[in-house]
Amino acid sequence: MIIFVATAVEPTWINRMSDWDLLLTNARIATMRDDAPDYGVVGESAALAINDGRIVWIGEQSALGNHKVKESRSLDGRWITPALIDCHTHIVFGGDRAAEFEQRLRGASYEEIARAGGGIMSTVRATRDASADKLFSAAMIRVQSLAREGVATVEVKSGYGLDRDTEIRMLEVARKLGQESAVDIRTTLLAAHTVPPEFANNADDYIDLICDELLPEVAQRKLADAVDGYCESIAFSGPQIAKLFATAAKHDLPVKLHADQLSDSGGAELAAYFGALSADHLEYTSQKGVKALFDSGSVAVLLPGAFLTLGETQLPPIDDLRSNGVPIAVASDCNPGTSPICSLRTAMMLASRLFRLTPEECLAGTTRNAARALGLLDDRGTLEPGKRADLAIWDISHPRELAYWTGTPQLADLMIGGHTYVP
Ligand code: NIG
Ligand code: FE
Repeated sequence: MIIFVATAVEPTWINRMSDWDLLLTNARIATMRDDAPDYGVVGESAALAINDGRIVWIGEQSALGNHKVKESRSLDGRWITPALIDCHTHIVFGGDRAAEFEQRLRGASYEEIARAGGGIMSTVRATRDASADKLFSAAMIRVQSLAREGVATVEVKSGYGLDRDTEIRMLEVARKLGQESAVDIRTTLLAAHTVPPEFANNADDYIDLICDELLPEVAQRKLADAVDGYCESIAFSGPQIAKLFATAAKHDLPVKLHADQLSDSGGAELAAYFGALSADHLEYTSQKGVKALFDSGSVAVLLPGAFLTLGETQLPPIDDLRSNGVPIAVASDCNPGTSPICSLRTAMMLASRLFRLTPEECLAGTTRNAARALGLLDDRGTLEPGKRADLAIWDISHPRELAYWTGTPQLADLMIGGHTYVP
């Protein structure tokens, strides 16, 4: 269909060489650009044009010029935001840990359960036993659940294999999730999640195995987009993580870190030293750690689902992060142990209730800053000409509602790369 849209003013940015594939009109638009106040809202009645899967024009409808478009759709006042990005998940895993959930309700701590061979290790056993098909079908249900809430990009970590074959299997399953759904899956090697029983009391040798064999193979086969580790007394020490990160750098893989979740182990400083894309959790991060994150440009990824599930009372240093200008992201951390929450909208709501992030900070945390935490900000995370047309279209009266309601079907349409995706 060819539709000619005729209005008075010539737009400032147009692709003059080709027609537009799709024009969305009568919209409210929150661009979430960080150089614009108040959600980056564009006027009262706005339009957005897409060509070749990219945004080519955004502005007040009154500024739209004459363009040939293949399809034009009125949004009848609905809101467009950048599609959401879940930048920290562990959605590929076998089994569940509901029995541990009950144990914890009866008073056992996460660390006690982990030291007794449960915790991450119990999911490792179930994941090692699961076939790739089984891991894939269970994880695909989780991807679809996230997409039904407007999520178009999901980061997926390995880390429940802790041996060569299972870590590779997890990453292959994660890659396949991306191939078989329109949702963009970014994969992270988290082999340094905890010390496997085969290396009990010998964590150094396990780190050597990762650095000498697993990481080079994963890099060579392009199975991971980043490398992560868990720096904590129940997992790996600073020097062990430093060795891992130096190896990742040799293979041109960016790094991220589970940092200062249960104690101040200098994780934020370590992540910053290596120029990490992000440092995640951060409940026990010191002021020095916050400053280091600012200096390195790393994103602070807050995970309120784990905070809630572990009954944590130590809040991440939110005010310090804010006043130091560290970009804050929010993610689901969906995993069977510490965050059995497969809902980014719930994570947003928890971030505002538990961490007192404003609804705007929550939305920036699941769009712009989540994109930055994955090294993707040039490509998505805000609505701007040139960026991928990953859009969430909502039946809401203001974007502040996105951190307020949970469980309400407010997503009218999810567009990924300019195409509607129905999960
Ligand atoms: O992000 N902190 C370590 N890793 C996960 C927990 C994984 C698990 O308990 O299975 C987290 O909280
Ligand atoms: Fe995690």
